[in-house]
Amino acid sequence: MTAEMDPVKLMKQEVGRQAAARVESNTIVGLGTGSTTAFAIQFIGERLAAGELSNIKGVPTSFQASVLAKQYGIPLTTLDEIEAIDLAIDGADEVDPQMNLIKGGGAAHTREKIVDALAKYFIVVVDSSKLVAKLGTTFPLPVEVLPLAVTPVTQALIALGGRPELRMGIKKDGPVITDQGNMILDVTFDGIDDPASLEKTINNIPGVLDNGLFVGVANEVLVGEVKDGQATVRRL
Ligand code: 5RP
Repeated sequence: MTAEMDPVKLMKQEVGRQAAARVESNTIVGLGTGSTTAFAIQFIGERLAAGELSNIKGVPTSFQASVLAKQYGIPLTTLDEIEAIDLAIDGADEVDPQMNLIKGGGAAHTREKIVDALAKYFIVVVDSSKLVAKLGTTFPLPVEVLPLAVTPVTQALIALGGRPELRMGIKKDGPVITDQGNMILDVTFDGIDDPASLEKTINNIPGVLDNGLFVGVANEVLVGEVKDGQATVRRL
């Protein structure tokens, strides 16, 4: 099977394309993190290069987003230089029927939440495998923690009924270090009954920067699906 025929890649590519098509000239765009958003960034860059779009600036949510934006010729800005973000495009690891999310598979959820929550409109781009009836059933909840507080935060998360595991690097020995210099605890909960309350409770533990629960932040979800080898996009 060639890379082009991989159905997951096809779905990600198509939702990325459709999200990029929603970007308008003269706007500020939040650029999310992950393999699906990477396609959106690529297509935004292609629209700029083709002259279909002009005068946009991106607010990156990670080193990955800023590297890709530079590669595809998207000018960047910072939160200090702008008054508003018009549209944010970002991926997710789980999406529930209320459009609440778990994010942070790429360890970028702290910056992603700042940018996505500030946006006037936030479009989530996922393939259909990310849809769940209840959050926390297929993906552990990422929690960004100051390195010096990993032990007490681990104990506090166990007391909340979770099973935290320090995220380890791939092609890097030792723990994953976030773009802000912190560590990630991935917490298995076997289903989260009240995401809004758990989001606040975890963020109230001293030493926690933010967790990957995004409650009431998304305005729209684009879901990539593959039928008969053809990628299609459904809107929630
Ligand atoms: C990064 C994220 C990503 O958006 C999430 O992990 C989805 O990634 P992908 O599009 O590669 O499946 O939250 O922190």
